[in-house]
Amino acid sequence: MTDDEKEAASFRKMEKKATHRAMQKELDATRRAAAEQRLNGAAESSVIAEKKTGYEWFRNIGSPKFVVAPMVDQSDLGYRMLCREYGAQLVYTQMFNAGMFAEQEQYRVKEFVTCSGDRPLIVQFAGHDPALILKAAKFVEKDCDAVDINLGCPQGIAKRGRYGAFLMEELDLLSEIVSLLAANLSVPVTCKTRIYKGPDGWERTVKLAETLVNAGASMLTIHGRTREEKGHHVTAADWQTLRRLKEHFKGRVPIVCNGGIFDMGDVEECLRITQCDAVMSSEGVLENPGLFSRNIHLQTGHYANQVRLTEEYLDMAAKYPPWHMKTVRSHVQKMLYRYCVKHQALRDLINENVSTEELRVCTEYVRTVQQRDREKVKGDSHSNSVFAGTTTSQAASSEAVNDHVDEKYMETWYHRHWPAGSNPHAREFGAGCTPQAAAEKNKQILIQEEEILATRLEGEEDGLLGGLFSCEY
Ligand SMILES: Cc1cc2nc3c(=O)[nH]c(=O)nc-3n(C[C@H](O)[C@H](O)[C@H](O)COP(=O)(O)O)c2cc1C
Repeated sequence: MTDDEKEAASFRKMEKKATHRAMQKELDATRRAAAEQRLNGAAESSVIAEKKTGYEWFRNIGSPKFVVAPMVDQSDLGYRMLCREYGAQLVYTQMFNAGMFAEQEQYRVKEFVTCSGDRPLIVQFAGHDPALILKAAKFVEKDCDAVDINLGCPQGIAKRGRYGAFLMEELDLLSEIVSLLAANLSVPVTCKTRIYKGPDGWERTVKLAETLVNAGASMLTIHGRTREEKGHHVTAADWQTLRRLKEHFKGRVPIVCNGGIFDMGDVEECLRITQCDAVMSSEGVLENPGLFSRNIHLQTGHYANQVRLTEEYLDMAAKYPPWHMKTVRSHVQKMLYRYCVKHQALRDLINENVSTEELRVCTEYVRTVQQRDREKVKGDSHSNSVFAGTTTSQAASSEAVNDHVDEKYMETWYHRHWPAGSNPHAREFGAGCTPQAAAEKNKQILIQEEEILATRLEGEEDGLLGGLFSCEY
């Protein structure tokens, strides 16, 4: 490097530092002003006053009922767009580390990718430094509908980094973060957190939620489990507490409930029990991106099973490639989990094939297996009364049912942690439900879904029916 180049580099460095210091100063001043306002009893700053209330904003984005959760490494743009095609009405990004997002352009560029159809969108941040979270949020406020603070992550990394669920007791700090963002962003600030249980669980849950709402949060998403209820300690989500919370905040801010959603039946039951404004799914919709529309594509009306969804995801991933290939592979693993359980060869294929294009071989494999199974069913059907006397399309429809209800493929990723004889995600089976009983229930649900589909298609052209049932699906 020549002397001139060295001097220029050092000048750029100084300039960057000075800009950063100036920005920091500005943010500190805003932060102090917001804190002062709060101390003076002015709960809402003038900027908040000009903003829409939580419900006005919520209505403005279409009063979404079906929400896709923020998911680290899994909320890539391609996946978000696929979920939208199947009924998701509000989607989050994964949580971004606020410090890195605020400071590192490379991190921002590689992690936050969006497009015009990617709305309504909430961008989530994790962190504890109010100024840094605000700085990070400023970069995305024009590309999203709200900014969310992660107050629910229970992982060790969140404890070490002082964010997520480990901020649940730091009420003053939370108040500072939320009010600073609410006062300085052009979009609302929302929070996603958990509940407390135990003798004073309700009081602590309400105090936390009140703190967030009083500081200016426009919407709360509450995961109906405690910080300790993770991994193998997961229990049924507490929908009763969510219902009480909804009643408590009635008319003040929208409440989104989270936890315990495997299928559309759960969604309906959860909304009925909790009366919440919307329901958020994470693991359920991760395995089945078609969850919110019962696997019916909103625009074309086609039904997509796990294999077709995987293929459509791979198309999306090719269009909107995520930064890490492990993201794509991980989606494929979850969507095809039920086949992976039975086929070591498929697991190998997922591990061996690295690119989006190469991963298509996995769905080809499953289709081959399905074809073989169908041929076996057809062979058996000659002596099977199920097919006797039916029309061709009815028989084809029965085939599709057979395809979906095949008990060999009932072990879902969602239920992978169920210890034998218990059901942590139960909505109606209660404690003591066995995986076998759940599989039976799943089978019934799938049969019902097929019936719904058949009703929808009644009277429609044979060509469409043929297209749906006779070939690969
Ligand atoms: C793969 C994965 C990644 C997650 N990442 C986040 C995250 O970035 N931010 C967050 O608030 N929660 C995260 N969560 C938690 C979910 O958003 C959700 O609260 C939790 O899984 C409970 O919902 P469920 O019962 O529908 O799975 C993640 C969950 C999963 C399975």
